Amino acid sequence: MCSNYLGQIIPDDEKGYELDLFCVPKHYEEDLDRVIIPHGLIMDRTERLARDIVRDMGGHHIVALCVLKGGYKFFSDLLDYIKALNQNCDKSVPLTVDFIRLKSYCNDQSTNSVKVIGGDELSTLTGKNVLIVEDIVETGRTMETLLSLLSECNPKMVKVVSLLVKRTPRGSGYRPDYMGFEVPDWFLVGYALDYNEYFRDLGHICILNEKAKVKYKV
Ligand code: IMP
Ligand code: MG
Repeated sequence: MCSNYLGQIIPDDEKGYELDLFCVPKHYEEDLDRVIIPHGLIMDRTERLARDIVRDMGGHHIVALCVLKGGYKFFSDLLDYIKALNQNCDKSVPLTVDFIRLKSYCNDQSTNSVKVIGGDELSTLTGKNVLIVEDIVETGRTMETLLSLLSECNPKMVKVVSLLVKRTPRGSGYRPDYMGFEVPDWFLVGYALDYNEYFRDLGHICILNEKAKVKYKV
């Protein structure tokens, strides 16, 4: 079990940081309120998650399953840290990658249906130690759907790491095995988290302002 299972808790009255303190793409300057988790802090927390995961799962071959699209940045950085541990420790584990694409969101609302809209065949995961890598757990529906699909393929072990977990009354109570940060019930963008596909190209995790929600609405 992770030594700090809950992750860093970001409180409801967190003020974050002024946009002007950091570099933000010019095309998003008008759309964001505050920086909530700067990129450097995401990286530092991810480095520690990599260490906790290798400590717990490290005896065996790990298949890292990236939940697209939102998980791709966290996936890529987490795997880089796991690779660095592999390169510099006496013990190392083979790491292979798989991808699945799920969709559940429209505008800033989670919909009731979680759809698999692409990716690798889950049947290749039979008998494997699988690490699911997700960007954010909100209601928990996406992860519960994926875990139930995966259980039909009989993997040997499944662990879930999510960079963020939202404190929300809409939550099902589902908690991942590892998490980076627990965040308030805000809609967050950046570091591959999107609003209708925008803001994936933003390094920091930020709060979107109300004007931007209208501007990028579909
Ligand atoms: P859940 O099924 O309600 O747990 O929602 C999980 C999915 O919704 C995540 O994988 C994200 O893709 C998306 N999501 C939830 N909250 C946010 C957010 O604040 N910003 C961007 N995407 C989010
Ligand atoms: Mg996601």
